Amino acid sequence: MHILTMDDLTNEQMLELLHAAEQYKSNKQCTFHSAFAANLFFENSTRTKISFEMAERRLGLSMISFDAQTASIQKGETLYDTVKTLEAIGLDVVVIRHMEDRYFDELTGRVKLSIINGGDGTGHHPSQCLLDLLTIYQEFQRFNGLTVTIVGDISHSRVARSNAEALNRLGAYVQFAGPQEWMDSSLDHLGPNVELDQAVKESDVLMMLRVQHERHAFGVSFSKDQYHQQYGLTEERERKMKPSSIIMHPAPVNRGVEIADSLVECDRSRIFKQMENGVYIRMAMLQYVLNQREAIKHEFVN
Ligand code: CP
Repeated sequence: MHILTMDDLTNEQMLELLHAAEQYKSNKQCTFHSAFAANLFFENSTRTKISFEMAERRLGLSMISFDAQTASIQKGETLYDTVKTLEAIGLDVVVIRHMEDRYFDELTGRVKLSIINGGDGTGHHPSQCLLDLLTIYQEFQRFNGLTVTIVGDISHSRVARSNAEALNRLGAYVQFAGPQEWMDSSLDHLGPNVELDQAVKESDVLMMLRVQHERHAFGVSFSKDQYHQQYGLTEERERKMKPSSIIMHPAPVNRGVEIADSLVECDRSRIFKQMENGVYIRMAMLQYVLNQREAIKHEFVN
């Protein structure tokens, strides 16, 4: 059992994971596991890596350290051989972040340990999506009928893709705003491209995205101030939001670019709540894949 994209979960399973995360958050549930886990991060991360580690420790998993900089992948070993090696050594679950879209296609069906995708290139980010869903659900107790505008560097964003897909499935109305050259026609079936100033007034959730300079062509000129005025959440735009509307951002944040510095921690910002929720949702995801493994083991024994 893996969780690689939001397509790996039915709507019911998504809601089950949100419920399990809320149970963890209220300290109502904690099962300790004798399983072994490792986090394989081939691309930089603060939130996903550390909150998975926190989740694994809270679940009582035995952690095996893995450093991509000193691993034999640097000698040319493939990702498949790396994961197969960890499986042979006895690991039960690995969390992988990788710069290549769909890196997991070379692993699925070929490895027996469980994989949770911690983000693949511009592809998918299921744990970020689930923690975002949890944050929205805690706020509104529903998805149906909510207007969610995803703003900014859409075409380079795995968060935009995973969230747009899942929110659509759960009945939210999704739309996109930002520079035309960063819109993504492959998401057209999930929502229209709209003008930011109008979207700010109508949205229940404004989901601001980081400008991902590391994924842009080298040498393309970019003015932070100009971007902020045209496509950023300025204080002036924030004043036009509905009283009940919230601001989200997966972070890391470019303060003063996609969002004004003063708004990162304002009353309607849920940015740090998203990070807190990340621990509980990742506990729920780990528990979920480990439960499936236990079920398979029991089936085998019986
Ligand atoms: N939101 C997110 O994925 O952050 P990190 O890159 O720090 O993990």
